[in-house]
Amino acid sequence: MPVVKVCFTPALYALYSSRESITVVVDILRATSAMCTAFEHGVECIIPVSEVEDTYFYKADPNCILAAERGGRIVEGFSYGNSPKDYMRPHVKGKTLVITTTNGTQAIEIASNSGLILIGSFLNLSALSEALGQLQHDVMILCAGWKNRFNLEDTLFAGALVYRLLQYGYSYSVDSDAAIASLTIYKASNENYYKFLEGSSHRNRLASLNLEEDVRFCLTPDYTRALPYMDGHIMRDSRFNGELSELIVTRLNSAELKSI
Ligand code: MLT
Repeated sequence: MPVVKVCFTPALYALYSSRESITVVVDILRATSAMCTAFEHGVECIIPVSEVEDTYFYKADPNCILAAERGGRIVEGFSYGNSPKDYMRPHVKGKTLVITTTNGTQAIEIASNSGLILIGSFLNLSALSEALGQLQHDVMILCAGWKNRFNLEDTLFAGALVYRLLQYGYSYSVDSDAAIASLTIYKASNENYYKFLEGSSHRNRLASLNLEEDVRFCLTPDYTRALPYMDGHIMRDSRFNGELSELIVTRLNSAELKSI
């Protein structure tokens, strides 16, 4: 029976990581929500990078959209940040989005040695849980948190995903207190996510930047069937590679072989 684990912050990653495991990277407010939205609106692929300077390499490429966010704000000199709204417009279709964010893209970088990285958000919750249900593989949900600290929204989402993997006939089990705690938090929310996050730090940080609409949007379940995964340093949407593409399975198998 596959196991689902939850890692509350990237600082704890080494304690939970395993090459054979699928890592689901989650940054509900807002990096992974923005990524799922971008795919829904036709972005061809996404290149997540850790540092603002890493985006400069792509500056001259007319097919690239460059985006940078720090502390919830668009970095000076950039036209795009981390708001899902930035990626709901037709101009993104067919483009490559090169993006760096405070926590989300760092979490993806930290997980780069895992067998397979999938991108999770409330926006693709059903597509993601169905995919994991089919894959039947150990999963670690990596919460991006805030600067290596625990945050409520990523943990809430982790609990929603754990709940589905346990309760929807997908045959997963839990063996850690972190997964049980996430589940408890999710159940306590009664699925009224916006209200539940009322006192939480990043919801309030975004509210102070007039970004409350983004918060509401990022808490909407099943806006898209996008299922982003990392293919080397490039993020692609597996919908366009066939049903749970062979590529994904091949990546997992090769990670398993390497770890023997
Ligand atoms: C991040 O990556 O830290 C977040 O997505 C921050 C934000 O909401 O812009």
